[in-house]
Amino acid sequence: MALKSALDDPPDILFLDVNMPEMNGYEVCQQLMSDPRTRDIPVIFISALTETLDKVKAFHVGGVDYITKPFQFEEVHVRAEVHLKLVHARRAIEEKNTELQQALADLKIAQQHLVQSEKLAALGVLTAGIAHEINNPVNFIKTSALGLSADIHDLQKVLKLYEECRTECRHPTLPDRIDALKEEMEYTTVTTEIEELLDHIQEGVRRTEEIVNSLRTYSRMDTPADEKTDVHALIDASLVVLKPRYKKTISIEKSYNPVPALQVQPGRLIQVFTNILSNAIDAIHGKAAQQQGTITIRTTLQTRESGPYVVIEFCDTGPGIPGAIRDKVFDPFFTTKDVGKGTGLGLSISLGIIQDHNGLIEIANISGTGTTVSVLLPLEKEAP
Ligand SMILES: Nc1ncnc2c1ncn2[C@@H]1O[C@H](COP(=O)(O)OP(=O)(O)O)[C@@H](O)[C@H]1O
Ligand SMILES: [Mg+2]
Repeated sequence: MALKSALDDPPDILFLDVNMPEMNGYEVCQQLMSDPRTRDIPVIFISALTETLDKVKAFHVGGVDYITKPFQFEEVHVRAEVHLKLVHARRAIEEKNTELQQALADLKIAQQHLVQSEKLAALGVLTAGIAHEINNPVNFIKTSALGLSADIHDLQKVLKLYEECRTECRHPTLPDRIDALKEEMEYTTVTTEIEELLDHIQEGVRRTEEIVNSLRTYSRMDTPADEKTDVHALIDASLVVLKPRYKKTISIEKSYNPVPALQVQPGRLIQVFTNILSNAIDAIHGKAAQQQGTITIRTTLQTRESGPYVVIEFCDTGPGIPGAIRDKVFDPFFTTKDVGKGTGLGLSISLGIIQDHNGLIEIANISGTGTTVSVLLPLEKEAP
């Protein structure tokens, strides 16, 4: 009956005798503890038994306290109060815990949004330059297509004469007319020019494709699964996206060594490379916007204590990072750039992404001669 009523209307606290007919107090308590609906009810045993063993058993089966008979009413009262307070405190903690878990989940979503908006903000800054960059090859294609259509027009004239020659073969002046026309339109030049123009068109298309593909890699939102990725191709895609910002002032020196393809999230990794390169460009440009400089990108295989890594070094000829701020550069929102230029999120987001890849970011820095930012990606993630 006690078990049934505890299930129907769970009490705040329960007092149990140990010695009872049919089922003893320990068994009742065990049953209560095995049901999630009654598990949290504090059970206080009341018994005349004073053996230590029995007291211990009371706690083993899930009791919270033990009062021996004969008891004082006040004692029972204060003990009950203590346990009720404990129950309330535990409930409050559980509620707070749920709230905290929810807050954490919200925070994680907010952080994901932040990462994506940093990426898109960077893209926003680059868009005008990229549009210009696409315009160049498109103009190239356009002029070549115009030239090509003029050439084809000329060739059609020659073809037409040949057609006539077929129908009135014995026409005496036709061969001469064909020769004259060929000379007039510089026939051989036209045929070689067509080849060249087609090459130009293909080159224009290739460059446009390269830019569009890099942009697509860069703005990818979804990178659920790791992909076997050529790290060099990712760096190159990042360079294409950034090209409008550096091409006039900065020369890029690549020292790519053979490294295996890695299991990484390409859409996130390119964000890291773009952040680091973008910082290097900002550093070189410094206050004088058109300052010249060099960025050296080196890839190597290196073994550290924690194992073998593919190491990608970005070395710039900027002013270096002053000692006073060296510890802060990975802090979220830490920036030395003007409002609207820097978000201060680049390196903190990059660090998060690289840590997700079980990698490391190291900054070696000689103030006055530039900064080297190294990204280390573990080889364990190598594709099978
Ligand atoms: N290559 C670098 N040379 C000099 N300073 C750098 C370099 N990379 C980062 N920093 C410093 O670290 C700060 C934080 O960088 P980051 O997190 O990318 O944010 P942001 O670029 O938006 O300022 C920069 O404002 C700059 O002061
Ligand atoms: Mg940055």
